[in-house]
Amino acid sequence: MSDQPSSGRRPLLPGQISSWLGVVALAAAALIVTGYAYTLIRRTPTADSNRRQAQTTLRADNNKKENVLLTEPARNADGTYRIPLEDARALIVADPKVIAKIQAGGAPAAPAVAAAYVAGPFVAADAEQLKRGAAVYARTCIACHQPTGKGLPPVFPSISETPIVVGNPELPIKFITNGLMGPITVGGMTFNSMMPPVAGVSDQDIADVLTYVRQSFGNKGNPVTVEQVKAVRAANAARTAMWNTAELGLK
Ligand code: HEC
Repeated sequence: MSDQPSSGRRPLLPGQISSWLGVVALAAAALIVTGYAYTLIRRTPTADSNRRQAQTTLRADNNKKENVLLTEPARNADGTYRIPLEDARALIVADPKVIAKIQAGGAPAAPAVAAAYVAGPFVAADAEQLKRGAAVYARTCIACHQPTGKGLPPVFPSISETPIVVGNPELPIKFITNGLMGPITVGGMTFNSMMPPVAGVSDQDIADVLTYVRQSFGNKGNPVTVEQVKAVRAANAARTAMWNTAELGLK
């Protein structure tokens, strides 16, 4: 029989204390090694850390631009925004909620426009061309002029019931090919922005998309043929600069 109690905690014996100290020392050593390794990894930029850094910079940059886009003093006297158009577009593509914010920000509504201009008797386009044109529109115009064609005033003008859209197709053919900049008043609102040249469209695509917009969004304009597009592009083949509204007689 032993006189030692067989239940309850036994007091720490010196041997156990030293083994606990060993464990603590080991843990501390592990911590130091891990910490050192971490600082080494942190100092060497990896593809991952570079990407994260780039994303953070981009987000900060976007936030800054969004603030510029949405705050009152960022507007010019005529109500247009000072932010470059491409930046505005990139912002909207990155965050579609910006559209709602612009609208909630009290962007002045475009006044009603004059009745659509129709040259000659109206000819309805064939369904196939309209279908192709709708596809080109969705690919190349929709981000700015919107699914409704009403644009996003005061950043992007409406192409719904505006005279240029249904007028002589020479003008839109010109600025789809080379771009358009300079002050232009659409629906009573002055834009002083920039429409970049539309890339990746054939003569047929331009004829189709113009036919589509001329017969959509409340517009009533005649179809545009591929021959009309070819003629305008051939006559301006040497042109590389963007068109200016003033030189096209647009105000
Ligand atoms: C990157 C945005 C953007 C894209 C993409 C774009 N536009 Fe525009 N568009 C504009 C801006 C901005 C203006 C006004 C330019 C100015 O202020 O000088 C404009 C002007 C116009 C106008 C003359 C003004 C009016 O509202 O009637 C027409 C017509 C037009 N665009 C049609 C098109 C068509 C068709 C496409 C597709 C093939 C297209 N745009 C693609 C931004 C764009």
